[in-house]
Amino acid sequence: MNITMIGTGYVGLVTGTCFAEFGHFVTCVDTNTEKIAALQKGVIPIYEPGLDVLVQKNTTEGRLQFTNDMAQAVPEAEAVFIAVGTPSSRRGDGYADLSYIFAAAREIAGHLRGYTVVIDKSTVPVGTARQVDRIIREVNPQADFDVASNPEFLREGAAINDFMRPDRVVIGVASTKAEQVLREIYNPLYLRDTPIVSTTIETAELTKYAANAFLAVKISFINEIACVCESVNANVIDLAKAIGMDGRIGSKFLHPGPGYGGSCFPKDTLALMRIVQEHGENVRVVEAAVEVNAAQKARMVKKIREMLGGSETGKTIAVLGLTFKPETDDMRDAPSATILPALMEKGARIRAHDPKGMHEAREYLPKGIEYTENAYQAAEGADCLVLMTEWNQYRALDLEQLKQKLNDPVFIDLRNVYDPETMRAAGFRYTGVGRK
Ligand code: UDX
Ligand code: UDX
Repeated sequence: MNITMIGTGYVGLVTGTCFAEFGHFVTCVDTNTEKIAALQKGVIPIYEPGLDVLVQKNTTEGRLQFTNDMAQAVPEAEAVFIAVGTPSSRRGDGYADLSYIFAAAREIAGHLRGYTVVIDKSTVPVGTARQVDRIIREVNPQADFDVASNPEFLREGAAINDFMRPDRVVIGVASTKAEQVLREIYNPLYLRDTPIVSTTIETAELTKYAANAFLAVKISFINEIACVCESVNANVIDLAKAIGMDGRIGSKFLHPGPGYGGSCFPKDTLALMRIVQEHGENVRVVEAAVEVNAAQKARMVKKIREMLGGSETGKTIAVLGLTFKPETDDMRDAPSATILPALMEKGARIRAHDPKGMHEAREYLPKGIEYTENAYQAAEGADCLVLMTEWNQYRALDLEQLKQKLNDPVFIDLRNVYDPETMRAAGFRYTGVGRK
């Protein structure tokens, strides 16, 4: 099938490339001319494991191409996916900014030829697909099309695997014709027994927010329980294991840490709160999860200050990991972008390392941070070391070498990567999250 993907961010580029890998002919469009120029040369503007190989392969085999030109991309397409950004609005009120979605809809409208399904892939509030429908009908009343919703559940850092082996595919449609097109697109997954949940457009739109909000609630729950563990001298790792064995709870997303970040959970929980308020409802559980997440980052600042003897002023802090999670260069709403400025405000000096995110980090973090070649260089002359993001290469550090580099063998493990006894036996003053 001829498919067009509007937007080549994490979602658009991964989805477009995987559709090509299925055997479809995919044209990816983006307004960002530099991005498209780079992609046409096989240069991938984001770090996502395995994506470069897949883009290269499908471009070479003629199933994947990149353009800035909607007039070239849309007419032949049977399906057009909209995967442009839906960031939180600049007003700061938590609403999703849909201006890019509507701009894309207006442009698509003029180029539709023959029956086409226009599908929202970006995370959009309930009712957005209907608005896209209205815009297209206004701009091109003759157009023969249907709108649909097909939310994406991929995680950055594991995006290709999540796309190729999803737990389910959710499609929101208002016509059997549109449903048939989407079933045909995902047929390669259907052959792998991937369940396809076909429902109404509004249900599909809300499903995405509900899924992200539930995961955010789960993380905030275990972060709050972790604090309780610290005050009653319990071990949150064993606790999470024990409750996670209950199939009704499930073991995933029960890792306490410095709070959730990224391009989705923070903005989608806020957007959901706004959506429901607009309908005279509220989601108190999600509101609490958002509050707990902010408190968790503040608690990490306090934890670091305590381990430094009560004040970070004039202290040097080594930080390992800056991105919101491993295997991505994405710094959007990374906990480090809240925790480190708070420490620097009080006069702390930061020496940081991240395997992939230091380029992006310079955009998101205050000036004055010293970026280092590796973990050991970061530790040089530091009064403590903070493990912020659990990249694999920080999981088996040479503790002896670290101790020699550090001014003071203080290890603050915000991802519970190391075992407290082992660290203490190695001569470190150690603390994690949720285990004294
Ligand atoms: C996006 C949404 O932001 C998110 O809500 C949703 O869950 C998934 O899709 P992401 O892929 O991470 O997330 O977005 P981003 O990395 O910002 O990429 C969006 C792309 O769309 C950018 O490359 C931008 O240049 C492009 N774009 C934006 C267009 O091509 N046209 C536009 O009008 C606006
Ligand atoms: C998330 C959803 O998982 C995905 O389905 C959706 O499509 C987009 O949003 P992503 O933002 O890439 O994906 O990251 P995810 O792996 O979900 O992690 C989100 C944040 O939660 C990260 O900061 C991570 O460190 C944190 N987290 C995750 C925890 O603190 N504890 C956990 O147990 C799991």
